[in-house]
Amino acid sequence: MLTQPTEKDDNLVQWIRNGIAVRVFGSDVDASQSVASEIAALIRQRAAEGESCVLGLATGSTPVRVYRELIRIHREENLSMKHVVTFNLDEYFPMQPDAAQSYVRFMNEQLFDHVDIPRSSIHIPDGTIGRDGVDEYCQQYEDAINVAGGIDLQLLGIGRTGHVGFNEPGSEVDSATRLVELCDITRSDAANDFGGLDNTPELAITMGVGTILRSRRIRLLAFGQHKSAIVARSVQGEITDSVPATYLQGHDDVQFALDSAAASTLDPK
Ligand code: GLP
Repeated sequence: MLTQPTEKDDNLVQWIRNGIAVRVFGSDVDASQSVASEIAALIRQRAAEGESCVLGLATGSTPVRVYRELIRIHREENLSMKHVVTFNLDEYFPMQPDAAQSYVRFMNEQLFDHVDIPRSSIHIPDGTIGRDGVDEYCQQYEDAINVAGGIDLQLLGIGRTGHVGFNEPGSEVDSATRLVELCDITRSDAANDFGGLDNTPELAITMGVGTILRSRRIRLLAFGQHKSAIVARSVQGEITDSVPATYLQGHDDVQFALDSAAASTLDPK
């Protein structure tokens, strides 16, 4: 286990543990601004190289401030996102795109309606696919990521089960985009959005762990005390399929951007 304090100032403590660069910010706003700045710089760098920038995007409450900051940079600092290509991690199944809980709707409201990413460059797993066509659809989603050149930077949140995307405990390290069953904990965390557990989907389409690990950079965000136990387990625990986020320890450019509450169970030694 490698532990190296690498940077410290009033707002940021950073160390590396099990290959994960852990960055603890003064607030969720600071963490989100830092990640958004990195994304903006990457978009500009890829544009200067004449290349598109391929982003893997996440839903949930955690990345919302990153999206807000990207919109601000787009408007106030002239960040063009015309050459950005996006792939979202997951979607409930079945799910209509205009439903209140749809990740299509979420992404439109939180980001896509406010920036200039071409609609044809946006990919979100389709929750309207018929059950018979799902496997083929998931293979096409993987193919589309490969055709785009692979994901330059994947944004992640983390669920209380240690899921990334909807890769629940039991997911394999080389898993691909597929239809999955959601855990009870995940469904009960989502139940409020659906007006009760009975209305909460049992299935979802998610990029696989293998899909995520092929991204060139991975930036996981976690905020709040309720994430601290699973963050500590993901960073300090043994790599195991019972906590899929531990698989991130095997990636060579992964950072966890945390607020102090989410970092409070970590042992910074
Ligand atoms: C859902 C999403 C995940 C997200 C998680 C945490 O399960 N599919 O991608 O990371 O929720 O959500 P939140 O950020 O609201 O805590």
